[in-house]
Amino acid sequence: MAGWRMHVEIRPIGLEFAEDLAKIYRENRDFLRPYEPDRPESFFTTNGQLRHIRRILGEMDRGLRWTALIYLTGQPAGLITINNILRGVLQCGRVGYWVAEKEGSRGVASTALRLVLDVAFCELALHRVEASVRTDNPRSRRVLEKNRFHLIGTARDHVFLDGQWRDEFLMERHSPPISPGI
Ligand SMILES: CC(C)(COP(=O)(O)OP(=O)(O)OC[C@H]1O[C@@H](n2cnc3c(N)ncnc32)[C@H](O)[C@@H]1OP(=O)(O)O)[C@@H](O)C(=O)NCCC(=O)NCCS
Repeated sequence: MAGWRMHVEIRPIGLEFAEDLAKIYRENRDFLRPYEPDRPESFFTTNGQLRHIRRILGEMDRGLRWTALIYLTGQPAGLITINNILRGVLQCGRVGYWVAEKEGSRGVASTALRLVLDVAFCELALHRVEASVRTDNPRSRRVLEKNRFHLIGTARDHVFLDGQWRDEFLMERHSPPISPGI
């Protein structure tokens, strides 16, 4: 549309987002079914999302994850998270994301991933971010490749989704090298 500019932002999750999150989960329930664990009916309500977000905030407080809602020009459009954060000798995390079906193919996921990688490497000081993507999800693999993730290999029967064990590509991205100061 002439004169229309898309603006993608990520907003760290809080209880105030429960209604927005419940709404976009409800609207995308069928779309997300192949990629999400089975959810109880209550998950799609504001109260269910309040419980979900409280659990996420607890994990964020303990440094185990970092989660944000994706907004497209002020409207909720998805969710992105770095979970399984491991410190010690690994300093890594695992990224996951989804974007509402109606906002698809406009670069939203690619931009949100770029923004969350800034958080991962600059704010959380991670050394490496992993992702796994179903082998029949080339669209998501493309989002990762555009953000300079590389293929580690294929994991057979890696994840139980939509009633079956599924193969996944394991992918990774290392933190950019730190340029020497002046
Ligand atoms: C996968 C998903 C995150 C993509 O979101 P999106 O906002 O549409 O992604 P983007 O627009 O940033 O990028 C999609 C890219 O895939 C490409 N693409 C679309 N369909 C494709 C296909 N069948 N094969 C290969 N590439 C494809 C697009 O052309 C685009 O690449 P380009 O920018 O080089 O043209 C979204 O569809 C989604 O949430 N799906 C359901 C949940 C999911 O798969 N989550 C990820 C689990 S690992």
